Amino acid sequence: MSHLWRAKQYAKYLSKAKNRHGIHSPFVYKLLDKVIYDKTEFPEYETVTTIRKQLLKRTDSIEITDLGAGSTVNKSNKRKIADIAKNSAKGGKWGELLYRLSKHFQPEIMIELGTSLGIGGLYQSLGNPNGKLTTFEGCPNTAAVAQESFNKGKVNPAIIEGNFDNTLQAFLDSIEKLDWAFIDGNHQKEPTIRYFEQCLQKCHNDSVLLFDDIYWSKGMAEAWENIKTHERVNVTLDLFQVGIVFLRKEQPKQHFIIRY
Ligand SMILES: C[S@@+](CC[C@H](N)C(=O)[O-])C[C@H]1O[C@@H](n2cnc3c(N)ncnc32)[C@H](O)[C@@H]1O
Repeated sequence: MSHLWRAKQYAKYLSKAKNRHGIHSPFVYKLLDKVIYDKTEFPEYETVTTIRKQLLKRTDSIEITDLGAGSTVNKSNKRKIADIAKNSAKGGKWGELLYRLSKHFQPEIMIELGTSLGIGGLYQSLGNPNGKLTTFEGCPNTAAVAQESFNKGKVNPAIIEGNFDNTLQAFLDSIEKLDWAFIDGNHQKEPTIRYFEQCLQKCHNDSVLLFDDIYWSKGMAEAWENIKTHERVNVTLDLFQVGIVFLRKEQPKQHFIIRY
Protein backbone atom coordinates (compact mmCIF):
# COMPACT_ATOMS: atom_id res chain seq x y z
CA MET A 1 0.00 0.00 0.00
CA SER A 2 1.38 3.36 -0.94
CA HIS A 3 2.93 5.54 1.71
CA LEU A 4 1.12 8.46 0.06
CA TRP A 5 -2.29 6.89 0.70
CA ARG A 6 -1.43 6.28 4.36
CA ALA A 7 -0.01 9.79 4.76
CA LYS A 8 -3.30 11.19 3.42
CA GLN A 9 -5.29 9.09 5.89
CA TYR A 10 -3.05 10.31 8.69
CA ALA A 11 -3.52 13.94 7.68
CA LYS A 12 -7.30 13.36 7.63
CA TYR A 13 -7.12 11.75 11.07
CA LEU A 14 -5.08 14.65 12.50
CA SER A 15 -7.52 17.21 11.15
CA LYS A 16 -10.44 15.47 12.88
CA ALA A 17 -8.89 14.01 16.04
CA LYS A 18 -10.05 15.35 19.41
CA ASN A 19 -8.60 15.17 22.87
CA ARG A 20 -10.72 14.72 25.98
CA HIS A 21 -11.98 18.33 25.92
CA GLY A 22 -14.01 17.84 22.78
CA ILE A 23 -15.78 14.74 24.12
CA HIS A 24 -19.27 14.80 25.60
CA SER A 25 -19.77 11.07 26.24
CA PRO A 26 -19.08 10.49 29.99
CA PHE A 27 -17.93 6.91 29.28
CA VAL A 28 -15.39 8.00 26.67
CA TYR A 29 -14.30 11.11 28.60
CA LYS A 30 -13.52 9.00 31.66
CA LEU A 31 -11.66 6.42 29.59
CA LEU A 32 -9.52 9.14 28.02
CA ASP A 33 -8.89 10.90 31.30
CA LYS A 34 -8.17 7.88 33.49
CA VAL A 35 -6.69 5.40 31.05
CA ILE A 36 -5.75 6.53 27.57
CA TYR A 37 -3.99 9.75 28.65
CA ASP A 38 -2.70 8.38 31.96
CA LYS A 39 0.99 9.32 32.13
CA THR A 40 1.89 7.13 35.14
CA GLU A 41 5.18 5.27 34.60
CA PHE A 42 4.04 1.84 35.75
CA PRO A 43 7.05 -0.32 36.78
CA GLU A 44 5.88 -3.12 34.44
CA TYR A 45 6.72 -0.88 31.46
CA GLU A 46 10.39 -1.23 32.40
CA THR A 47 10.07 -5.04 32.53
CA VAL A 48 8.79 -5.13 28.95
CA THR A 49 11.23 -2.49 27.72
CA THR A 50 14.14 -4.56 29.05
CA ILE A 51 12.90 -7.71 27.28
CA ARG A 52 12.32 -5.75 24.06
CA LYS A 53 15.82 -4.24 24.22
CA GLN A 54 17.28 -7.74 24.61
CA LEU A 55 15.37 -8.84 21.49
CA LEU A 56 16.59 -5.79 19.58
CA LYS A 57 20.19 -6.75 20.39
CA ARG A 58 19.87 -10.35 19.16
CA THR A 59 21.95 -11.20 16.12
CA ASP A 60 20.35 -14.57 15.31
CA SER A 61 17.67 -15.25 12.70
CA ILE A 62 14.70 -17.60 12.50
CA GLU A 63 12.88 -19.23 9.63
CA ILE A 64 9.51 -17.52 9.34
CA THR A 65 6.18 -19.06 8.38
CA ASP A 66 4.31 -16.02 7.07
CA LEU A 67 0.57 -16.60 7.00
CA GLY A 68 -0.73 -13.06 6.97
CA ALA A 69 -0.48 -9.84 5.05
CA GLY A 70 2.92 -9.86 6.65
CA SER A 71 5.98 -7.77 6.43
CA THR A 72 6.42 -5.21 3.69
CA VAL A 73 10.00 -4.88 4.81
CA ASN A 74 11.64 -8.23 4.12
CA LYS A 75 10.19 -10.91 1.90
CA SER A 76 12.84 -13.57 2.58
CA ASN A 77 11.74 -16.38 4.90
CA LYS A 78 14.68 -15.95 7.23
CA ARG A 79 14.43 -12.93 9.46
CA LYS A 80 16.58 -11.49 12.17
CA ILE A 81 14.86 -11.52 15.55
CA ALA A 82 16.06 -7.94 16.04
CA ASP A 83 14.24 -6.91 12.84
CA ILE A 84 11.01 -8.61 13.93
CA ALA A 85 11.25 -6.83 17.27
CA LYS A 86 11.72 -3.53 15.46
CA ASN A 87 8.94 -3.94 12.91
CA SER A 88 6.21 -6.14 14.39
CA ALA A 89 6.29 -5.89 18.17
CA LYS A 90 3.89 -3.55 19.86
CA GLY A 91 6.28 -1.42 21.88
CA GLY A 92 6.38 2.04 23.39
CA LYS A 93 3.21 4.03 23.81
CA TRP A 94 1.02 1.46 22.03
CA GLY A 95 2.14 -1.40 24.25
CA GLU A 96 1.68 0.80 27.29
CA LEU A 97 -1.85 1.57 26.14
CA LEU A 98 -2.57 -2.17 25.95
CA TYR A 99 -1.25 -2.47 29.49
CA ARG A 100 -3.48 0.32 30.83
CA LEU A 101 -6.59 -0.87 28.99
CA SER A 102 -6.24 -4.43 30.26
CA LYS A 103 -5.51 -3.10 33.77
CA HIS A 104 -8.61 -0.89 33.63
CA PHE A 105 -11.12 -3.36 32.20
CA GLN A 106 -9.73 -6.45 34.00
CA PRO A 107 -11.02 -8.85 31.33
CA GLU A 108 -11.14 -12.48 32.44
CA ILE A 109 -10.91 -14.28 29.12
CA MET A 110 -8.59 -12.56 26.67
CA ILE A 111 -7.29 -13.43 23.23
CA GLU A 112 -4.64 -11.95 20.99
CA LEU A 113 -4.46 -12.88 17.31
CA GLY A 114 -0.78 -12.50 16.38
CA THR A 115 1.70 -13.21 19.18
CA SER A 116 4.88 -12.30 17.31
CA LEU A 117 7.72 -12.14 19.88
CA GLY A 118 5.35 -11.73 22.81
CA ILE A 119 5.78 -8.02 23.50
CA GLY A 120 2.07 -7.16 23.21
CA GLY A 121 1.26 -10.29 25.20
CA LEU A 122 3.57 -9.14 27.99
CA TYR A 123 1.86 -5.76 28.23
CA GLN A 124 -1.61 -7.31 28.25
CA SER A 125 -0.69 -9.98 30.83
CA LEU A 126 1.24 -7.68 33.16
CA GLY A 127 -1.61 -5.16 33.10
CA ASN A 128 -4.11 -7.78 34.13
CA PRO A 129 -2.48 -10.65 36.06
CA ASN A 130 -5.87 -12.17 36.94
CA GLY A 131 -6.92 -12.45 33.30
CA LYS A 132 -6.26 -15.52 31.19
CA LEU A 133 -4.65 -14.57 27.89
CA THR A 134 -4.57 -17.00 24.99
CA THR A 135 -2.43 -15.78 22.13
CA PHE A 136 -2.44 -17.23 18.60
CA GLU A 137 0.58 -17.44 16.30
CA GLY A 138 1.06 -19.14 12.95
CA CYS A 139 4.86 -19.25 12.96
CA PRO A 140 6.23 -21.90 15.37
CA ASN A 141 9.73 -20.37 15.51
CA THR A 142 8.31 -16.97 16.36
CA ALA A 143 6.06 -18.54 19.00
CA ALA A 144 9.13 -20.19 20.57
CA VAL A 145 10.79 -16.79 21.00
CA ALA A 146 7.54 -15.41 22.45
CA GLN A 147 7.56 -18.22 25.00
CA GLU A 148 11.06 -17.10 26.08
CA SER A 149 9.78 -13.52 26.44
CA PHE A 150 6.86 -14.71 28.57
CA ASN A 151 9.21 -16.74 30.78
CA LYS A 152 11.43 -13.71 31.29
CA GLY A 153 8.42 -11.56 32.18
CA LYS A 154 7.07 -14.30 34.50
CA VAL A 155 3.71 -14.37 32.74
CA ASN A 156 1.91 -17.41 31.47
CA PRO A 157 -0.30 -16.84 28.42
CA ALA A 158 -1.26 -19.96 26.48
CA ILE A 159 0.12 -19.91 22.93
CA ILE A 160 -1.95 -21.66 20.26
CA GLU A 161 0.10 -22.35 17.14
CA GLY A 162 -1.39 -22.54 13.66
CA ASN A 163 -3.30 -20.45 11.16
CA PHE A 164 -6.04 -18.39 12.86
CA ASP A 165 -8.34 -19.70 10.12
CA ASN A 166 -7.96 -23.18 11.64
CA THR A 167 -7.43 -22.44 15.34
CA LEU A 168 -9.71 -19.57 16.34
CA GLN A 169 -13.11 -21.22 16.00
CA ALA A 170 -12.17 -24.31 18.00
CA PHE A 171 -10.93 -22.10 20.81
CA LEU A 172 -14.06 -19.94 20.74
CA ASP A 173 -16.18 -23.10 20.88
CA SER A 174 -14.33 -24.08 24.07
CA ILE A 175 -15.11 -20.89 26.04
CA GLU A 176 -18.31 -19.52 27.57
CA LYS A 177 -17.56 -15.85 26.94
CA LEU A 178 -14.90 -13.58 25.51
CA ASP A 179 -14.07 -10.38 27.41
CA TRP A 180 -11.20 -9.06 25.31
CA ALA A 181 -9.82 -9.59 21.80
CA PHE A 182 -6.75 -7.90 20.35
CA ILE A 183 -6.69 -8.60 16.62
CA ASP A 184 -3.17 -7.96 15.37
CA GLY A 185 -2.36 -10.40 12.59
CA ASN A 186 -3.36 -11.09 9.00
CA HIS A 187 -4.08 -7.44 8.28
CA GLN A 188 -6.43 -7.94 5.36
CA LYS A 189 -10.05 -6.93 4.88
CA GLU A 190 -11.87 -10.24 4.61
CA PRO A 191 -10.05 -12.17 7.38
CA THR A 192 -10.23 -9.19 9.75
CA ILE A 193 -14.01 -8.95 9.35
CA ARG A 194 -14.30 -12.72 9.66
CA TYR A 195 -12.24 -12.89 12.89
CA PHE A 196 -14.32 -10.00 14.29
CA GLU A 197 -17.57 -11.80 13.52
CA GLN A 198 -16.23 -15.04 15.00
CA CYS A 199 -15.23 -13.24 18.21
CA LEU A 200 -18.67 -11.61 18.41
CA GLN A 201 -20.21 -15.08 18.92
CA LYS A 202 -18.78 -15.07 22.46
CA CYS A 203 -18.74 -11.33 23.18
CA HIS A 204 -21.10 -9.70 25.67
CA ASN A 205 -22.12 -6.15 26.44
CA ASP A 206 -18.84 -5.28 28.22
CA SER A 207 -16.40 -7.03 25.89
CA VAL A 208 -13.59 -4.92 24.46
CA LEU A 209 -12.18 -5.51 20.97
CA LEU A 210 -9.02 -3.90 19.65
CA PHE A 211 -7.83 -3.83 16.06
CA ASP A 212 -4.29 -2.95 15.11
CA ASP A 213 -3.23 -1.21 11.90
CA ILE A 214 -6.70 -0.06 10.89
CA TYR A 215 -5.17 2.17 8.18
CA TRP A 216 -2.46 -0.26 7.09
CA SER A 217 -4.16 -0.57 3.69
CA LYS A 218 -7.38 0.41 1.92
CA GLY A 219 -8.66 -3.08 2.71
CA MET A 220 -8.02 -2.60 6.43
CA ALA A 221 -9.70 0.82 6.36
CA GLU A 222 -12.72 -0.86 4.73
CA ALA A 223 -12.67 -3.60 7.36
CA TRP A 224 -12.62 -0.92 10.09
CA GLU A 225 -15.58 0.85 8.44
CA ASN A 226 -17.45 -2.45 8.29
CA ILE A 227 -16.74 -3.14 11.98
CA LYS A 228 -17.82 0.38 13.02
CA THR A 229 -21.13 0.04 11.27
CA HIS A 230 -21.90 -3.47 12.55
CA GLU A 231 -25.29 -3.55 14.28
CA ARG A 232 -23.80 -4.81 17.57
CA VAL A 233 -21.15 -2.09 17.76
CA ASN A 234 -22.08 1.11 19.58
CA VAL A 235 -18.90 2.99 20.47
CA THR A 236 -15.61 3.07 18.60
CA LEU A 237 -12.39 4.97 19.23
CA ASP A 238 -10.10 5.55 16.28
CA LEU A 239 -6.55 6.24 17.44
CA PHE A 240 -5.27 5.78 13.86
CA GLN A 241 -2.82 2.99 14.73
CA VAL A 242 -5.43 1.15 16.79
CA GLY A 243 -9.23 0.98 16.75
CA ILE A 244 -11.11 0.19 19.97
CA VAL A 245 -14.62 -1.26 19.86
CA PHE A 246 -17.31 -1.39 22.54
CA LEU A 247 -20.70 -3.03 22.22
CA ARG A 248 -22.38 -1.34 25.25
CA LYS A 249 -26.05 -1.32 24.30
CA GLU A 250 -26.74 1.53 26.75
CA GLN A 251 -24.60 3.95 24.70
CA PRO A 252 -25.78 5.92 21.67
CA LYS A 253 -24.00 4.83 18.51
CA GLN A 254 -20.96 7.12 18.31
CA HIS A 255 -17.58 6.97 16.63
CA PHE A 256 -14.77 9.04 18.10
CA ILE A 257 -11.53 10.04 16.44
CA ILE A 258 -9.09 10.44 19.28
CA ARG A 259 -5.69 12.13 19.32
CA TYR A 260 -3.08 9.87 20.88
C1 LIG B 1 2.07 -7.65 13.96
S1 LIG B 1 2.53 -9.20 14.54
C2 LIG B 1 1.81 -9.29 16.14
C3 LIG B 1 2.45 -8.37 17.15
C4 LIG B 1 2.05 -8.66 18.57
N1 LIG B 1 0.60 -8.65 18.71
C5 LIG B 1 2.60 -7.65 19.53
O1 LIG B 1 1.84 -6.76 19.95
O2 LIG B 1 3.78 -7.72 19.88
C6 LIG B 1 1.50 -10.29 13.64
C7 LIG B 1 1.75 -11.77 13.87
O3 LIG B 1 0.62 -12.49 13.37
C8 LIG B 1 1.05 -13.69 12.79
N2 LIG B 1 0.03 -14.06 11.78
C9 LIG B 1 -0.35 -13.32 10.71
N3 LIG B 1 -1.33 -13.95 10.03
C10 LIG B 1 -1.59 -15.11 10.68
C11 LIG B 1 -2.51 -16.17 10.49
N4 LIG B 1 -3.37 -16.17 9.47
N5 LIG B 1 -2.51 -17.18 11.38
C12 LIG B 1 -1.63 -17.20 12.41
N6 LIG B 1 -0.72 -16.21 12.65
C13 LIG B 1 -0.70 -15.18 11.80
C14 LIG B 1 2.40 -13.38 12.18
O4 LIG B 1 3.19 -14.56 12.09
C15 LIG B 1 2.96 -12.34 13.15
O5 LIG B 1 3.82 -12.92 14.09
